[in-house]
Amino acid sequence: MILIIDFGSQYNQLIARRVRECHVYCRIDAPDITVAEIKALNPDGIILSGGPASIYEKNSPKSDTAVFDLGIPVLGICYGMHFMISALGGVVEGVGRREYGFSELNIKKADGLFQGVSKKSTCWMSHGDSIRRLPRGFKITASTANTKIAAAVHAKKNLFGFQYHPEVAHTQMGKKMLRNFLFDVCGCRRTWTMKSFARRSIEEIRSKVADKKVILGLSGGVDSSVVALLLHKSIGKQLTCIFVDNGVLRKDEARKLKVTLKQQLNLNIRFINAKTLFLRALAKVTDPEKKRKIIGRLFMQVFEAEARKIKGADFLAQGTLYPDVIESVSAFGGPTSVIKSHHNVGGLPKNMKLKLIEPLKYLFKDEVRLLGKELGLEQDLIWRQPFPGPGLAIRILGEITHRRLTILRSVDDLLLEEIKNAGYYKKLWQSFAVLLPIKSVGVMGDQRTYENIVAIRAVTSKDAMTADWAKLPHKLLGRISNRIINEVNGVNRVVYDISSKPPSTIEWE
Ligand code: XMP
Repeated sequence: MILIIDFGSQYNQLIARRVRECHVYCRIDAPDITVAEIKALNPDGIILSGGPASIYEKNSPKSDTAVFDLGIPVLGICYGMHFMISALGGVVEGVGRREYGFSELNIKKADGLFQGVSKKSTCWMSHGDSIRRLPRGFKITASTANTKIAAAVHAKKNLFGFQYHPEVAHTQMGKKMLRNFLFDVCGCRRTWTMKSFARRSIEEIRSKVADKKVILGLSGGVDSSVVALLLHKSIGKQLTCIFVDNGVLRKDEARKLKVTLKQQLNLNIRFINAKTLFLRALAKVTDPEKKRKIIGRLFMQVFEAEARKIKGADFLAQGTLYPDVIESVSAFGGPTSVIKSHHNVGGLPKNMKLKLIEPLKYLFKDEVRLLGKELGLEQDLIWRQPFPGPGLAIRILGEITHRRLTILRSVDDLLLEEIKNAGYYKKLWQSFAVLLPIKSVGVMGDQRTYENIVAIRAVTSKDAMTADWAKLPHKLLGRISNRIINEVNGVNRVVYDISSKPPSTIEWE
């Protein structure tokens, strides 16, 4: 395995992705990891990530410098390289102007990490500091026009440094360089596959749960569905899934799940119809945060009441993913400020003394999809776009009424059908409709209309932290708009949301 020490770079998850794409397991830890902990992990190699700080700043993140004496190969990237160089007696200084973007890399010799890499190729730079002098034992292995020390090595100690970012796709042969580090230098083997992960997880869950029972909040999204299937394969009927219909789900949501998970895969699922309870509590509520709080609170109530009926349940399973875990260990991470109070299905009720099972906590979203495939989950569920816990309640701006829910459900269904038919569903992070709290004048068959407006939102994103509005073809947008206005009663205008995140958010409420 490879240990990645996180100095706060925005590209950290990319480093981990690249390593795992090579079928090598890796984990990300904070800079304060101790040498004893590193020894216990016994990594084959260590990667020091980049980061936004300057090494000579007072509170810049640092690791124990004994990491360079463990005999484990180390690759420092950008800030990680600065940390290594200055810890070992070299000099790092501010260059006065930042270097950001493409640069041509001039490689001295095609050996070491540059084995098989062409002598001239582009790399991606993003730094404010540079190395002025290398410590004894190091030599320069590559330069660019602006940066003399773009790459360096201490061959005897297997210490490597890149000023540029091999993990971003803009560095043409970055993946090859990382592969050279993993396989030639660290001697890693390609053992990280979803097949091996599934086998190990199933065994681990079995021995952890023994003869006890597990409860899981099933939302219909890919994460909780994969957890359900993994647990089902592992402990069968000792798993009970609870699906709460909160009245603000999409069209046919519960029915579709019943068919795929309950009937086809024989999962033990309890469907709770709590529509009336939720919709009554939401009546006349227009404030987005109030809507979110009501739904979060009621969900917990309903879930807990149901969970209590399951005798002998010792465990609660959750679909926590690796990015959530990294967030809390990152040098500069930690929980970001609350922009919206997120409600996640399956959150641990405070007074329930259940132990947690989080089998996906080492996986990225795309790995979860691969795992789903490995476990035989239906394509439709595997490729499901994320859907927020508070559902359509936060996509109906203003009051939530039966009529407005019916309108949005029909629009949403039609929109997804068109997006799927046009081959865009998998390419988009999310695509959905929002019902606005205003009306506009229109004309239909010589008649004046005064009806609702619907906004279409379609975004591309890697992790929902940032997102771009999708440049959907005008022809497709035209067809969607035409169909909505013609087929959904109560809508006479469609608009397209062209804002990115930040400064907007993906959902409107
Ligand atoms: P925003 O709107 O904050 O959304 O840009 C980021 C991502 O999170 C989803 N989202 C939620 N997911 N519970 C969830 O499980 C929630 O309360 C919630 N609110 C937003 C949103 O759909 C997007 O993918």
